[in-house]
Amino acid sequence: MSVQPEVRRLTAPDIRARKGGEPIVCLTSYHAHTAAIADKHCDVILVGDSLGMVMHGLETTVPVTLDMMILQGRAVMRGSKRALVVVDMPFGSYEASKEQAFMNCARVLKETGCGAIKLEGGRRMAETIAFLVERGVPVMAHVGLTPQSINTIGSFRAQGRDEADWGPIEADAKAVADAGAFSVVIEAVAEPLGRRITGQIPIPTIGIGASPACDGQVLVLEDMLGLSPRVPKFVKRYGDIGPSIENAVKSFAEDVRSRAFPGPEQVYSMRSKDR
Ligand code: KIV
Repeated sequence: MSVQPEVRRLTAPDIRARKGGEPIVCLTSYHAHTAAIADKHCDVILVGDSLGMVMHGLETTVPVTLDMMILQGRAVMRGSKRALVVVDMPFGSYEASKEQAFMNCARVLKETGCGAIKLEGGRRMAETIAFLVERGVPVMAHVGLTPQSINTIGSFRAQGRDEADWGPIEADAKAVADAGAFSVVIEAVAEPLGRRITGQIPIPTIGIGASPACDGQVLVLEDMLGLSPRVPKFVKRYGDIGPSIENAVKSFAEDVRSRAFPGPEQVYSMRSKDR
């Protein structure tokens, strides 16, 4: 007998159905505790491969492994109940062939319990996306600036700031929609291009440095909380938690050094003898 959870989780088709409707709210999370907070307010939680830079201090997302994504994907699933959890496929885990992509996506879905995966690339990934979707893997695509390609593109610069460069990015967005992706992240493109693509394709666009006209927006949680030392222009800071963490750590260090911590409330007394 199966026991139905109290809260129904959003699914990829639910998000697909939001095209042109109420904006889709998405944040990244890599941990159970931040996932529980994001889950109260977000439609989608993305376990982004940005975890390589945010959690592990890597320079790029290229070294991130499938095992890292699965470990954090599981934590986010444990912490959340309602949001659709999407796990990023890391560089090297899906590009070699559609069969490689299917095997690794199936691992992510089975081992994390997440509802969808995300992969980077437009036209070059269209055949793979169709293969995955036909076999039961919901795919969120990612076009515009694709950080896993840093070694071929050379820098994290915004794309499509000259109209002459729009064609390939528009073609990428159309290709992933035609291939069956349920939504597409558009990262760091000129605003009019993000707006135009959103009007052109039938699936929701999730903007990050794209356009307010996108069907949804995503940010890296630590960037918007003010915890990341360097952030791109498209990040708006909604918090500044770095200084509060530092103040707490400083107070703890002072208390330990002065023996003010632990105090009487934080230690165990002996059981009373006459009980
Ligand atoms: O890895 C990530 O966090 C992402 C978002 C920036 C969209 O792909």
